[in-house]
Amino acid sequence: MKSVQNKMSETGFLDPLPEMDDQQFRQWMGLLEDRTGTVLPPERKSFLVTNLGLRMREIGCRNYQEYYDMLSGVQGLKEWNVLVDRITVHETRFFRHPLSLELVHDYVTHKPLDQSAGHVSVQVWSVACSTGEEAYSLAMVIDQAFKRRGDASYFGITATDISPASLITGRKGVYPERRLKDVEPGLREEYFNQAEKNHYQVDDYLRKRICFARMNVMDIVNEPVGKMDIIYCQNLLIYFDRSTRTEIVTNMARHLLPGGLLILGSGEMLSMEHPELEQIQHPRVLAYRRVKESTRVNE
Ligand SMILES: C[S@@+](CC[C@H](N)C(=O)[O-])C[C@H]1O[C@@H](n2cnc3c(N)ncnc32)[C@H](O)[C@@H]1O
Repeated sequence: MKSVQNKMSETGFLDPLPEMDDQQFRQWMGLLEDRTGTVLPPERKSFLVTNLGLRMREIGCRNYQEYYDMLSGVQGLKEWNVLVDRITVHETRFFRHPLSLELVHDYVTHKPLDQSAGHVSVQVWSVACSTGEEAYSLAMVIDQAFKRRGDASYFGITATDISPASLITGRKGVYPERRLKDVEPGLREEYFNQAEKNHYQVDDYLRKRICFARMNVMDIVNEPVGKMDIIYCQNLLIYFDRSTRTEIVTNMARHLLPGGLLILGSGEMLSMEHPELEQIQHPRVLAYRRVKESTRVNE
């Protein structure tokens, strides 16, 4: 077998990792698709091989089949939680798509007061939140909008992802200074505290409004998530095939309150016909408003 990567073994020699053949690649793609719904295109093979190889070396596993079998065994779930973090893409940043956040700001600014409660409240879901920057950006935007309104207000954010390691980072809310480059100085001052060297932590005031939880987007339909005013899901659907994207969007729509917004990444859904969603015209933003209450039985 040809080797693709090398590492020093205990004996001081380089340990070769076997090359992954096409049949093995299909087996791993199948596992990934079954468990996460995502489709790994052939050009991502080297990404998979590199990350599998690194993890296999860490745990002393010598071949792909042995590792594959381990993932199905008793220890499988724990190990899968580690691996899924390595083989999914977590790229994110604060205020990643300002135009979508502008739409959130408009929505919060104009949401009518609940006359019976005497306040206005907004529930948001950041789906596939990665390490939390998206959820905190939403929190800052909403808090700013509420402060400008001056009404009694409440908001809560549910932030979910399949990767437990990303969620740990999100919960801590500690980021190196360079990651705050897109946060305006005024917001940095208001919502971040200096932590260890060159790091900042999101203030408790915002952190308390966000609940981070593990969730596979493929299971959304069964999840006990309440009804949302805003569902924000960006840079996730690109990893799924067309029919799975439609299925995920349909399931997300079921968690929206009437009048609520579903905000996706622009270009992530090419065309969508959904009887309960109408597209919002907002420049370079892909968003839908739920028009009426669903009639599905199990909602
Ligand atoms: C590229 S990041 C996007 C982060 C953020 N939404 C943004 O736009 O900056 C994609 C995230 O999707 C998560 N993910 C991948 N498959 C998932 C699944 N089946 N269920 C939930 N999250 C998933 C990954 O763990 C990763 O954190």
